[in-house]
Amino acid sequence: MRTLSREAVERLGSPLAIRVDFHEEIVSTQRRARQLAREGAPHGMLVISKVQKGGRGRLERSWVSPSGGIWMSLVLRPKLPSHLTPRITQAAAVGVATALWSLGVEARIKWPNDLLVAKPDEDMGRKICGILAETGTTNLSAKRLGTGDDNRVDFVVLGIGLNANLDPEDLNVPDREVATLRSELGRDVDLIELLGTLLSGLDVELGRIEDFGAVLDDWRALDCTLGKLVRVERFGEVLVGRAADLTPEGALLLETPEGTVKLFEGEVEHLRQEGT
Ligand code: BTN
Repeated sequence: MRTLSREAVERLGSPLAIRVDFHEEIVSTQRRARQLAREGAPHGMLVISKVQKGGRGRLERSWVSPSGGIWMSLVLRPKLPSHLTPRITQAAAVGVATALWSLGVEARIKWPNDLLVAKPDEDMGRKICGILAETGTTNLSAKRLGTGDDNRVDFVVLGIGLNANLDPEDLNVPDREVATLRSELGRDVDLIELLGTLLSGLDVELGRIEDFGAVLDDWRALDCTLGKLVRVERFGEVLVGRAADLTPEGALLLETPEGTVKLFEGEVEHLRQEGT
């Protein structure tokens, strides 16, 4: 059972780890990767740490990252105009979900890119992996995905936090909201093998980002949001409605009593269906 080490990560030989910045402990791999990207780090640079002391998630929430998880950020330099970079988060979600299924964990995607698992008697799902993609410009401050113009972005930092060899109680989040590979498989996994599987899944999906229809077909097959009643918070506004469909660009079409709203971003909460 291997744990993380620089040598073992480098030996994976992944195109998404062509350069490895390995840490025993760091504040945040995301922060470090953004700094390296601004300084010119190449596509495929991987920043990974056994522990993060100041990991962060979407909306500046903290992301608890003790030893036993995969806490990593990838520097990507996609050849895409900035308005198409949100594709990266959905492709990444498919890549991670595929890797989890190959381990026997039936993860589903909550729009746009949270990975949830649920036992047959659970209808809400517990989060096992979070994905955070941020665009940036070399030597300028980073900006959130999806807000840019048609210019190419210089880089995207794709952060992935996967709860692996941990107990849900290690994460300071209510147990009903969080899952780990250990809680789902009942055993620990070889973290190097897991990382290799994860990087391969990401490499495949990011490699077909220009064929986004195919990525979205796979996204739909793994989805657990469409058809559900959801509450969405977006720019301080709260919308409630049924998640009806995706547009060809992956935006969520939400049917509300006031009409259909197209969402490019937002924090989605699945609501309990009547009678459950
Ligand atoms: C989310 O809110 O769901 C996204 C969580 C992203 C967490 C990962 S862990 C590795 C990387 N470093 C960070 O500080 N955040 C991301």
